[in-house]
Amino acid sequence: MKKILLFASGSGSNVRTILQNFYEQPGVSFPAIITNNKHAGVIEIARAAGLDVMVVNKENFYSEVFIDVIDMMNPDLLVLAGFLWKVPDYLVQTYQGKIINIHPALLPKFGGKGMYGHHVHEAVIAAGETESGITIHLVNEHYDEGTILLQKKVDVLDSDTPETLAKKVLKLEHEWYSKVIATLLNS
Ligand code: GRF
Repeated sequence: MKKILLFASGSGSNVRTILQNFYEQPGVSFPAIITNNKHAGVIEIARAAGLDVMVVNKENFYSEVFIDVIDMMNPDLLVLAGFLWKVPDYLVQTYQGKIINIHPALLPKFGGKGMYGHHVHEAVIAAGETESGITIHLVNEHYDEGTILLQKKVDVLDSDTPETLAKKVLKLEHEWYSKVIATLLNS
């Protein structure tokens, strides 16, 4: 059994899509969803899917003893889907090459601290970019800097607003994140 540990802070549309895509897939399970936000929409999605939800506070998450909690679940892959806190070094080092993130732009542009959600799309449009997209990457000790596993592009049109661009990018995320996860689980 391959175990995917999900981390999310927001509305959870990626989590929902991942759960749908892996629903009833033999050999894949989700031991829990970890969130830092007790009001996150993803909690409802996780509960509806019958998954355990773990709400962590900063003190616990950044304390090395939290590794015991993660280790107990014995995950094969740690999947960040809109998780806003930086992953602590102890976790990156213990699960080297097994933590992935999705970013709603073409890294290395428009990444780093503070570059999340609408901030990303606003910056892309303000910079006059003609294309944006998604980046799925390994997580290392620095925000949005780990090895890139996959990028997919969308055109940025003159008529695009941060909202329309966000929709196009999110569609790509839903299309590709589960595929990359499946590839990693099988490798
Ligand atoms: C996505 O745009 C993802 O790229 C970013 O956070 C957002 C999460 O959206 N890391 P959702 O909560 O999955 O709807």
